[in-house]
Amino acid sequence: MQHFTRADIDNLHKYERIQLINSCPGFKSANLIGTISANGNENCAIFSSVIHMGSNPPMIGYLTRPARVERNTFTNIKETGFYTINAITKSMIEAAHQSSAKYPADVSEFEAVGLKSQYRDCCPAPFVAESPISMALKLVESHHIQANDTILIVGEITDLFINEDILRDDKSLNLQEADIVTIGGVDAYHSAELIQRFEHATL
Ligand SMILES: Cc1cc2nc3c(=O)[nH]c(=O)nc-3n(C[C@H](O)[C@H](O)[C@H](O)COP(=O)(O)O)c2cc1C
Repeated sequence: MQHFTRADIDNLHKYERIQLINSCPGFKSANLIGTISANGNENCAIFSSVIHMGSNPPMIGYLTRPARVERNTFTNIKETGFYTINAITKSMIEAAHQSSAKYPADVSEFEAVGLKSQYRDCCPAPFVAESPISMALKLVESHHIQANDTILIVGEITDLFINEDILRDDKSLNLQEADIVTIGGVDAYHSAELIQRFEHATL
């Protein structure tokens, strides 16, 4: 076992610290957030911090990094109140990763990285057409985390679009069948393999 004290962590090179600390929480969800600005510039960026926050009402959160840097995704969400979250599949990983590059606000990442934006009546924000799982959300709350100047964005799901092939009778999704990937650290994309499903645990 290699022991890293807090002093060791603080003394690491910035990129080594990013790799180490991002890898420790294990595999993370892989999603593209689609938004549009008030003046019509569409945006798409990858996020690994999307989390389930509750099913009734259906709520999803994600964390955006320091507020002092311009964040097109969050700016657009504040302007319109709406966004989409779209799962990333194996065939999308190159484009999805490239969406993390710092494109100017007036450049559409959809066009820049080669993904197709899709508009639906229920939501002003663009969906990622290639994705088999897409959620439309409306902004509910945002919380500034003072300790590291990050923001937790909380949204309520208004509409869901699921590829029928992966929707099981019990309404769980066959994520493996859909080739949904998972993220390790900040740059590693993995396939996931089902080990086993269980009954609801009781005493
Ligand atoms: C694998 C991966 C996961 C990422 N996850 C997040 C995240 O959870 N939160 C965040 O603020 N940025 C995250 N980023 C960085 C954003 O994708 C990047 O800052 C992007 O340019 C944001 O776009 P925007 O300025 O259009 O909002 C991630 C990047 C990669 C490569």
